[in-house]
Amino acid sequence: MSRFWSPLVHRLTPYVAGEQPVVQDLVKLNTNENPYGPSPRAIAAIRAEAGDGLRLYPDPHATILRQAIAVGLGVQADQVFVGNGSDEVLAHAFQGLLNHDGPLLFPDITYSFYPVYCGLYGIAYREIPIDAAMQVDVDDYAGPCGAIILPNPNAPTGSALPLSAIRRLVEAHPDQVVVVDEAYVDFGGESAVPLVADHPNLLVIQTFSKSRSLAGLRVGFAIGQRHLIEALERVKDSFNSYPLDRLAIVGAVASYEDTGWFEETRGRVMASRQRLFEALNELGFEILPSAANFVFARHPAHRGADLAKGLRAQSVIVRHFAKPRIEDFLRISIGTDAQCDRLIAALKTLVA
Ligand SMILES: Cc1ncc(COP(=O)(O)O)c(C=O)c1O
Repeated sequence: MSRFWSPLVHRLTPYVAGEQPVVQDLVKLNTNENPYGPSPRAIAAIRAEAGDGLRLYPDPHATILRQAIAVGLGVQADQVFVGNGSDEVLAHAFQGLLNHDGPLLFPDITYSFYPVYCGLYGIAYREIPIDAAMQVDVDDYAGPCGAIILPNPNAPTGSALPLSAIRRLVEAHPDQVVVVDEAYVDFGGESAVPLVADHPNLLVIQTFSKSRSLAGLRVGFAIGQRHLIEALERVKDSFNSYPLDRLAIVGAVASYEDTGWFEETRGRVMASRQRLFEALNELGFEILPSAANFVFARHPAHRGADLAKGLRAQSVIVRHFAKPRIEDFLRISIGTDAQCDRLIAALKTLVA
C-alpha cells in the first residue's frame, strides 16, 4: 500500500503465476511447461540472430512470423495477430473486444487470469458453473451477455469440447465476440480456427509456450477476421509497438516450421499422459479426461493440500488451487516418463 498508488492499483488483485524455484533435482510439474526442449532449429535461429542487428528495433508487425502462421493454418497473414505470450494477446482482447455493456461470461473453473483482466480493465463478468462432471456445457451460456471467453481444452480441468459445441456457441451469439483460448489444443483438442472464415465474431488464441516448448520466449497469437485483428492491433499500437523482439520473431518462425519436432514431442507428451493416467488410476485417483499437457486428479481419501505438501517435501511440485470445488484436486503437468515415475513413487508413499 502506498499513497502514491492510483485508485485502480489499490483495487487490483493480481494473478499469481506458478512458482519457478531453482532447486536441484526438482521434478517441476506445476506450470504446464513442455518437458522436451524447443526445436533445435529455433535455438539455432535465435543464436544466429543474437548479434549486431540487435541494435535495431524489430519489425513492429512481426511480418515473417504472421506469414508463417498464416501458411500453417490456411488463413491470410492479416488475420493473424502476434503478441508477447498469449497472456498479452488475451489482455488486448479483453480490453479491445470483450469490454461491452453486458457481462463477460466464462466458466467458474477456468484460467484464473480472466477475472484479473476484468479487474484491470473494469469489465463486469459472470461465471458460469461447469457441470457436475466438471465439464463446460455451452448451452449454459444462452443468456444475454456482452461477450464470452473460454479455454478449449479448459484449464485447469484439461477437458475439451468438440468443434460442434464451439460452433453451436459461436452461432448462438452472432452479435457477441466469442474468444476460444486454445493454449492446450495441440495435445488432443479440436481447433476452432477452421470456423473463423464463416464467423465474424470468433477469435481463436494459441501459444508457443506449451506444444512448441517456448514458454521462455513469450510468443502467442490470435486468429480472426480482419476487423477483430484490427482491434487488437489498435490496442497494441497504443501500448507497445514492439511486443516481440528480434530473437522471439526468428525463434518462433523456425519453431513453427519444424513440424517434425512438433509432432514428435507432442506425441511423446500424449503417450506419457496416458501412462500417467493409468498409474494414477491404480493409486485410486479420480482423473478427469484430459486433452491437455496436464491432468487434473483427486484422491478420495486425501486432501489436495496435503498431497501437494507431501510431494513438495519429496521435491516434486504440482499446482494446487485453494478454491471451492477444486481444492482437493492436483493439476499435474505431464513430464518425461522418468519425471512421472518420480511423481508416482512419491504419491505411493503418501496414499499408501
Ligand atoms: C488457458 C491458458 N491460456 C493462456 C495461457 C498463457 O500462456 P502464455 O502467456 O505463456 O502464452 C495459459 C498459461 O498457462 C493458460 O493456461
